[in-house]
Amino acid sequence: MVKVSRLFIKVITISFICFLFKTQALNAQKQDLTNFIAPTEVAPGLKPDRIILTWQTDPSTSQTVTWRTSTVVKTPVAEILPIGSSSATKTFKAKTQKLKSENSGTLFHAVNFTNLQPNTQYQYRVGDGTNWSNWFRFETANDQPEPFSFIYLGDAQNELATSWAKTVQATHTKAPQAKFVLHIGDQVNSPESETEWQDWFTAGAAIFTTKSHLVIPGNHEYARKLGLPKLTRFWNPQFNFPKNGPKGFKDVAYYTDYQDVRIITLNSYWFIYGQAHWLEEVLRSNTKKWTIVACHYPVFSASRAKDTKSLIKYWKPLFDKYKVDLVLQGHDHTYARGFGLTSKGEKQYVNTSPVYVVSISGPKAYRRNVQKPWPTRTSQQGQLFQVISFEENKLLYKSYSVSDALIDAFELTKAKDGTKAIKELLPLNTTN
Ligand SMILES: [Fe+2]
Ligand SMILES: [Fe+2]
Repeated sequence: MVKVSRLFIKVITISFICFLFKTQALNAQKQDLTNFIAPTEVAPGLKPDRIILTWQTDPSTSQTVTWRTSTVVKTPVAEILPIGSSSATKTFKAKTQKLKSENSGTLFHAVNFTNLQPNTQYQYRVGDGTNWSNWFRFETANDQPEPFSFIYLGDAQNELATSWAKTVQATHTKAPQAKFVLHIGDQVNSPESETEWQDWFTAGAAIFTTKSHLVIPGNHEYARKLGLPKLTRFWNPQFNFPKNGPKGFKDVAYYTDYQDVRIITLNSYWFIYGQAHWLEEVLRSNTKKWTIVACHYPVFSASRAKDTKSLIKYWKPLFDKYKVDLVLQGHDHTYARGFGLTSKGEKQYVNTSPVYVVSISGPKAYRRNVQKPWPTRTSQQGQLFQVISFEENKLLYKSYSVSDALIDAFELTKAKDGTKAIKELLPLNTTN
């Protein structure tokens, strides 16, 4: 009996010590996060915030704007007029969704400005007739091919208000002419965190209000419920994308035609086989000169040991068959660029494979896996952004560090018969 009592006291004592250690560790972890991420949660109010431009329909004749307010707002509207024109201001009534929130209540409003003129600058503001945002500007796409560029950002995910904000600022000064921004997933670390989404919107505000954004979910936009992926409750109210995706996956997989480029945004988190049929149809019907695919998980990994088998099995054969030009990816928190590998592990080249890129725009960095044979170039420079430009038969790709160093650059040209050539613009015998 005495032995049993002693054993019981020992178990209780050890459990209590473990509890103390665990509590201390958690507190230390919280302390660290507090040091890195300034808590900037702001409750919604009468004045609009979290304003972001996206496309639901043709970029040459329409523009969608979404914003947030408190539930007090009853008459959400957006005003628009062309710059340098005597046309009257047009008012569009918004569609509103309520967000289940930690706050007293949040509304997201969206207006799709339609019947716009191609290649035209507009100014707009959002509000309720009394409380307004500032006036902002955007430009519609041309309805025929002309030179343009866009920005591609890998995972943002961490330290959004501090570190990631520097990447946004760098894109703004390096490529102010860029027409839109592609976000490759893992915008935040905790999908349901009001604070992290607030930080993402605050850090990006300067470009969110003036350029259009294509955003796809990464694994960090999903939680798990009863074993199944559950998309963050913030996604649908705060983003409005084309409803041309596969059934059941609209808003998280879609395609956008911008002048002579088709950008296909896929959800690589799940339903890979189910999206393949839709993907093939979108590739088969494509009449644009350039084709870009964006997905969060890399087909060929840059930092992990294993490549993504399901993407290699169901999507890669379509990328090769329909001669996709670029596959832009994230998730691996490092940088790598190169062609694909055959099923035998042999290297592919420019006319048999897209150029695959893995990149990162936030501060969380993984070591690249040096065993991986596919990359032509890698980098451990940390936070990066890419500026991708098109001019007639030429695609110009440049990758910059957050401090403006050019770490990768190449030119892809395409002949009339579709034959491609790649020209490296930086020496390849070094690893940045
Ligand atoms: Fe990820
Ligand atoms: Fe990530």
